[in-house]
Amino acid sequence: MNIIVIGPQGSGKGTQADLIGPKIGAAKLSTGDLFRAEIAAETPLGLRVKEILASGNLVEDELTLAIVDERLNTLASDGISSYIFDGFPRTTAQAVGLDQLLETRGQKVDAVIELTVPEDVLIERMSSRRVCSGCGANYNLAFQTTQRDDICDQCGGQLVQRPDDMPGAIRKRLQLYNDLTKPLLDFYGARGLVTTVDGNQDVERVQEAIVHALSAAAINSEA
Ligand code: AP5
Repeated sequence: MNIIVIGPQGSGKGTQADLIGPKIGAAKLSTGDLFRAEIAAETPLGLRVKEILASGNLVEDELTLAIVDERLNTLASDGISSYIFDGFPRTTAQAVGLDQLLETRGQKVDAVIELTVPEDVLIERMSSRRVCSGCGANYNLAFQTTQRDDICDQCGGQLVQRPDDMPGAIRKRLQLYNDLTKPLLDFYGARGLVTTVDGNQDVERVQEAIVHALSAAAINSEA
């Protein structure tokens, strides 16, 4: 089953994709994670996109589709053919491109989960997020403490704030979501693929709601 999680920045797409992927046997494919890995490894692509990510702007569609294509090939060579897309697609061109990438592999998008969260909550979540500079683990100062201040419990790495979690970049990202990504709900809605889930609940409650929505989608696609 191939699933897309759509929602504004900070709505919990990554958190939920990490939890749900293993439950349904799908690999998480996060374009944000892929770009951040390139930046950390200082590859030519990473150097090219570093400033774009820090400013909160979107990477060009062509580059984004190319990195997704490459990742799908890697996953396929590992025998994985079920995906949960987090943060991709974000533009109509990317959605059309994803259809083509899946079609060439004899696949399609099976379900789209929209996460909704009020804007003031999104801003609060992003402002209090911290990530491990070593392993990338995600923490939130609003409801999580670590054993040692600013140190990752998992690997001992330093916790840092993402450059795009600064106020100016947050505003830019939310505006891009409304202008470029939200229209995809109509794109997939026309195919009857979208289920809206209230993302402003405990992580576990959101997870339950998504699992429920995916079970219904699986039944519908078999009917
Ligand atoms: P990306 O890494 O995808 O970031 P994003 O879209 O800005 O999304 P976030 O990671 O901020 O939010 P999320 O919804 O995943 O929430 P999360 O689970 O982390 O992209 C980064 C950049 O890469 C883009 O700006 C762009 O430059 C580039 N890029 C990526 N994809 C691209 C594409 N397709 N095209 C072009 N450019 C692209 O949760 C947020 C916080 O809230 C965390 O601290 C978490 O712990 C907390 N939280 C989560 N759920 C809950 C809950 N239920 N209750 C309370 N707190 C919660």
